[in-house]
Amino acid sequence: MKPTNAPKTYRVKSFGCQMNVYDGERMAEMLATRGIKPAPEGEEADLVVLNTCHIREKAAEKVYSDIGRLQKADGTKPLIAVAGCVAQAEGEEIMARAPAVSMVVGPQAYHRLPEMLDKAVQGERATDTDMPAIAKFAALPERRKIGPAAFLTVQEGCDKFCTYCVVPYTRGAEISRPYSDLVTEARKLVEAGAREITLLGQNVSAWSGEDDRGRRVGLAGLIRDLADIDGLARIRYTTSHPADMDDELIAAHGEIDKLMPFLHLPVQAGSDRVLRAMNRSHTAESYLKLLERFRAARPDLALSGDFIVGFPGETDAEFEETLKLVDEVRYAQAFSFKYSPRPGTPAASMDGQVAKEVMDERLQRLQAALNRDQLAFNEGTVGRTCEVLVERKGKHPGQWLGKTPWLQSAWFEGDYAIGDLVEVDLLEAGPNSLRASVREGALSLA
Ligand code: 5AD
Ligand code: SF4
Repeated sequence: MKPTNAPKTYRVKSFGCQMNVYDGERMAEMLATRGIKPAPEGEEADLVVLNTCHIREKAAEKVYSDIGRLQKADGTKPLIAVAGCVAQAEGEEIMARAPAVSMVVGPQAYHRLPEMLDKAVQGERATDTDMPAIAKFAALPERRKIGPAAFLTVQEGCDKFCTYCVVPYTRGAEISRPYSDLVTEARKLVEAGAREITLLGQNVSAWSGEDDRGRRVGLAGLIRDLADIDGLARIRYTTSHPADMDDELIAAHGEIDKLMPFLHLPVQAGSDRVLRAMNRSHTAESYLKLLERFRAARPDLALSGDFIVGFPGETDAEFEETLKLVDEVRYAQAFSFKYSPRPGTPAASMDGQVAKEVMDERLQRLQAALNRDQLAFNEGTVGRTCEVLVERKGKHPGQWLGKTPWLQSAWFEGDYAIGDLVEVDLLEAGPNSLRASVREGALSLA
């Protein structure tokens, strides 16, 4: 490649999960410390980072088409870095197939992006897909000014090896970031304006560490200590695996006010045979029992889940069991996907791959049931009084949008600022949001 001028502007485009959003923010912070500025809206940057997702569908194809389309106003290509899980899984192919790409950097190596950038400016191409992750966090710069709802990666990687999933291959083995690093980063986030922190991990409930008195603590212990941070009003966590939910975490939902009444606990399917084939290590019944315990600790808990339809070999009767489970749980929201064979995973070579039309029909039926339950959940909260964290302006002047404790979007009118916690009455429910009115004189900055 030809040497080029050092980039003045950057854009990080993150796809996929919230952990990619977090990684994207950290990459942006690193570029900012080098004096590179975010590109103005509508203008292509001198340096583009495609922070990719490999979990489903034709992820790699999408990356190539994005690369093809990138162009600056003068017709030249920007410097391009491919980061994230596609970079990890298919780094060499990307280098071979896409000459416009000068940097390929995996999710555990992106702290090296600045060095790679120096090389790229000299005209050298570089790939770094080293694992594991712990060196990365130590090498990242400090947190900068952020919005009121922030993410904090506490755990990365996965040892569960569900047979459909690429994560154990792209993000590597489970690692927990050290307790003291997390408390420090959480404090920095709060100083930088965060009122709510969502603790992130592919298996966040598997986090464990040693607190500042040398005691072994799990996620519940970490949440308890983070709840002591002044100015932090809300804590959430995602995503969990049913196998790692311990008594202490369940109890925490009933005891820690700042821990929001929301639980994202993927189940994937309702049939025990399918769950076994997925290597999920739980049954439909053990999952439902676990939810009962959470609901006993926190009766107003809103539940969320992930589902896959059309896993290899799934019969009509087995799919009906998924619908039955949904009817029992009554999720407040959920994500559902058609099974997508991922290269290198055991399920990709299983017999009985399900036809696309069958998957389409199952997904439609499942989503109809989930949408029905989401609306019912929202309607069930009408009449409640709760706090809303103001996250952004609404479409109309004087309108604000925020999140309820149950992670619903609520909008209301008044004279507020982003980051305010406002007490509202929930008045009217739609499928995706609620209309609220602010209680007279209510503005809490707790
Ligand atoms: N096909 C479809 N959905 C998948 N997920 C993970 N791997 C696949 C796949 N191969 C879904 C699961 C998981 C969510 C993050 O993505 O439901 O919980
Ligand atoms: Fe993938 Fe299963 Fe690990 Fe979740 S628990 S990241 S679905 S392997």
